[in-house]
Amino acid sequence: MSADFDDFKEQVRSSADIVDVISGYVALKKRGHNFWGCCPFHGEKTPSFAVNPEKNMFYCFGCHEGGDVFKFIMKAENCGFLEALKLLANKYNIPIPETHKNAQELAREKQLQEVVATNELAARYFQACLLRTEHGKPALAYLASRGIGQEIIESFSLGFALDSYTALVNNLGRHNCTPAQLVKAGLALTGKNGGIYDKFRRRVMIPIRDIRGRVVGFGGRVLGEGQPKYMNTGETSFFNKRYLLFGLDIARQEVRKTQQVLIVEGYMDAISLHAAGIKNAVASMGTAFAVEQARLLKRMALEVIFCYDSDAAGRRAAVRATTIAREAGLRVRIATVPQGKDPDEYIRQHGREAFLKVIEGAVEGIDFQINETISENNVSNLAGKVETVSNLLPFLLQCKNDIEVVEHIRKLAQRLVIDEGLIMEEYRKAARKRSGQQNMPGLPVPGVRTTTTTVEQQAEELLLAVLLEHPEMAVNCLEIVEKVGFVIQAHQQLFTALVQGNYSEQVNASQLTEHLDDGVASVLAGIMAKQTPAGDAGRMIEDCLRQMQRGFLEKAYEQHCQLAAQYEQAGDARCMSELAESQRIKNEIKKLYSN
Ligand code: GTP
Ligand code: MN
Repeated sequence: MSADFDDFKEQVRSSADIVDVISGYVALKKRGHNFWGCCPFHGEKTPSFAVNPEKNMFYCFGCHEGGDVFKFIMKAENCGFLEALKLLANKYNIPIPETHKNAQELAREKQLQEVVATNELAARYFQACLLRTEHGKPALAYLASRGIGQEIIESFSLGFALDSYTALVNNLGRHNCTPAQLVKAGLALTGKNGGIYDKFRRRVMIPIRDIRGRVVGFGGRVLGEGQPKYMNTGETSFFNKRYLLFGLDIARQEVRKTQQVLIVEGYMDAISLHAAGIKNAVASMGTAFAVEQARLLKRMALEVIFCYDSDAAGRRAAVRATTIAREAGLRVRIATVPQGKDPDEYIRQHGREAFLKVIEGAVEGIDFQINETISENNVSNLAGKVETVSNLLPFLLQCKNDIEVVEHIRKLAQRLVIDEGLIMEEYRKAARKRSGQQNMPGLPVPGVRTTTTTVEQQAEELLLAVLLEHPEMAVNCLEIVEKVGFVIQAHQQLFTALVQGNYSEQVNASQLTEHLDDGVASVLAGIMAKQTPAGDAGRMIEDCLRQMQRGFLEKAYEQHCQLAAQYEQAGDARCMSELAESQRIKNEIKKLYSN
């Protein structure tokens, strides 16, 4: 890309203080050179996530995720490099060159601004109708009958759409909104004669805001009974419920503070809970909980509590939502409101304290999933037990550590009255199958990589660590490395990057990251996060190379010995040459240590 762009990128990089940035997501404490916290990318209770301000890198010793500040934002916000760059530029007030917004982005931004402006005008108009007109009285009375007063009306900007086909269209027309804008915002519909008319009539209007508080759509409720109960803004690219949670703009601060978010199904539930001072409630607006919503929440909380309807459909929705939220790395609990009530009914009848008890009694997501699965199957016979176990495997596979899995399997075995070992065997099979699918050769799999590394692998890591500090010495290793290679594919790629001169003393590791694949960049961060032992660099490099050669030769030795044994059994004369070759290799190994 252009030199201009590189300048911009470097300006952002040097302005973005990695500790400051990551602190916005994770609580960090300084210990030694590093700042430490609980990794936001995998569930953990003891901090193994390190941020090194000098090297400008982060690394998690648990899941092996690591990289520079851009990589962190890309992971945390689940976005691409350019978006991460822009986000940081905004945070540090570095002007984004207009040329780096493409035409499509600019057009979309402009359209969104128009939709939001139109919606915000409408919200103000609806509220004026509710609070300051005769026609608003029945709506005010309806809200009052549901315990919603002035304060909540204001904080949620509730309003009322008059019983008219023209009221909004005319009013907003006077504010220079064009018919096309009104239709695009979903506030007006086009009639047969080509004219437009109000979509929402005689409804309580509930503005739906995105996380930044911009009104992107509305939910409109009939007063009392009537069908449809709700009318919502139609789905468009500006109003996509998968990315929205009703009330999140208001709940956001409390969610961050408590690291916990309470998800209910209905607008009225969320509103009612806020009215009772439960300020971390948001509503999924009646649609299935989506992975996009989970990712949004993951940025600001550790735990979600689903408080869905307790009927069969609600419970099934909760099981699915749990899977999605766990997959996104959130802790999950499920609260069940007694007596088949929804949270709004329950809290108004029994009060805040009673509702908080319900939340306290929320069960772990996986326990809920297990209970539901058991109750859906007939576990009195063998077939039902087998079915149950196989249905439960996906939930067990989501567990973050083996201790958890073992514990669940133990309990499950007791409940199903079958042998623990059998369930464990099924689990292992499923785990193997899955890691077989996910595991790309040579690349570390987060959370799956074992901590037992061979001597050779350690030597490779140390070699790279030393070379990162003395990049000019990389070429000296070339001859041996070409012969024996690295065992770990990512190490090989790192070495190649070093040799290719992507790395010199003037270039920092963070910049090197850009030339590497994601998995390799994480490995690099891992190497940098560890302390390089003090000592003579040349000597250390020699030792490492020797270790790598030894590993290489020992493997070759093994192979030739095995071949020799096979030929011997088969009475094949080639046995002799294999033996001779293995002897030659053995001598070579000895020579490694002779001087
Ligand atoms: P109240 O009955 O007023 O207490 O509403 P609620 O918020 O409790 O709604 P409910 O639990 O019945 O439904 C949950 C959510 O599903 C609502 O908040 C809406 O977002 C959505 N929903 C419910 N009914 C309809 C409908 O008729 N049409 C549409 N589009 N959405 C609906
Ligand atoms: Mn309700």
